Amino acid sequence: QPGDLALTPPMGFNNWNSTHCRTEFNAAMIKGIADIIIAKGLRDVGYEYVNLDDCWAMPERDAAGKLVPDPVRFPHGIKEVADHIHAKGLKFGLYSSAGTRTCDSVGMPGGMGHEYSDARQFAEWGVDYLKYDNCNNQGVDYMLRFTAMRDALKAASAKTGRPILYSLCEWGSYRPWRWGREIGQIWRTTRDIKDNWASMLSIMKHNLPLAKYAGPGGWNDPDMLEVGNGGMTDTEYRTHFSMWAVMAAPLLIGTDLRVATSKTFAILSNKEVVAVDQDRLGKQGIVVAEEDGRWVVVKQLADGSRAVALFNETGTPRRIVSSTKAIGLPSAPRYRVRDLWQRTTRHTVGALAATVPGHGTVLLQVTPEREFSRSPRP
Ligand code: DGJ
Repeated sequence: QPGDLALTPPMGFNNWNSTHCRTEFNAAMIKGIADIIIAKGLRDVGYEYVNLDDCWAMPERDAAGKLVPDPVRFPHGIKEVADHIHAKGLKFGLYSSAGTRTCDSVGMPGGMGHEYSDARQFAEWGVDYLKYDNCNNQGVDYMLRFTAMRDALKAASAKTGRPILYSLCEWGSYRPWRWGREIGQIWRTTRDIKDNWASMLSIMKHNLPLAKYAGPGGWNDPDMLEVGNGGMTDTEYRTHFSMWAVMAAPLLIGTDLRVATSKTFAILSNKEVVAVDQDRLGKQGIVVAEEDGRWVVVKQLADGSRAVALFNETGTPRRIVSSTKAIGLPSAPRYRVRDLWQRTTRHTVGALAATVPGHGTVLLQVTPEREFSRSPRP
């Protein structure tokens, strides 16, 4: 793969969290989502990939061993959908599994043993992104299974000239953060996220300690966003989105944008929060303090500033206190403090504190400033 894939964490949409394999997952939905990404300005925010998950193909291959797009969901095939997405200036992602079948009970055939012909098919359809799952792997060594598809994608995209981002969906059991960078661009670190507070929180806690493995070209993937799906409050969804940004996670929208509320759009399209995720330095944030459910998580940014998440894990408001020193900033006469959700700016000489609602996050960007005075030097 060319070395410039995923220099920042990938952003886009995937249908799984909103539809699973239900019949509403189909060409009309996916094309509608692509249209909304454009109409609502989400492409300008950075959302780029429109990805199909499990169940896009028929349960069996054809006589020639090819995957057959489900004719009810995709009556004009996969390429027609890919073309629609490309015509909008977006990129197209597809799904398969490193096993004999995919995960869902409806499911479809997996890629194991068909890597080269499937990859060639994907490349011909114009696939820009492959999510490769781990189900029904028959106990075959994970390294063999995931590298086989990597090599097949490389060969296929060399022919078309279209790079294919490779998303390793191994769920963290074989610690893919240790080997993922050699094989793909993102690697799942946990089992599947669910649309509830406990699930989001436990995934966040598993992913936070893996900061040192993330960087340009290779990212920890704590799974796709649940923002907008209804199982959490807007405060909790803002925490989910803030923490994914501070963890430099892939930002894959997982809600049906055709029915999303204005609050959901407001969270997903906060450009300043997205900029924290997409910062070119590519550092995943680290925990600098955690006491009685009060968390301070800090992400170093390319311009010398730091993003600071003051996260309240408890269910009632808490005062969370930190300082410019504690978050690792050099000494300066004063610091600019931008609140990325309130969109307000103030200054401090060092103290950082906020009263944070239960399950809430105050997300700050703190920038050292050199001079108080604007008058010319003597
Ligand atoms: C398991 C993966 O972790 C999910 O993200 C999703 O792709 C399902 N499989 C599909 O069956």
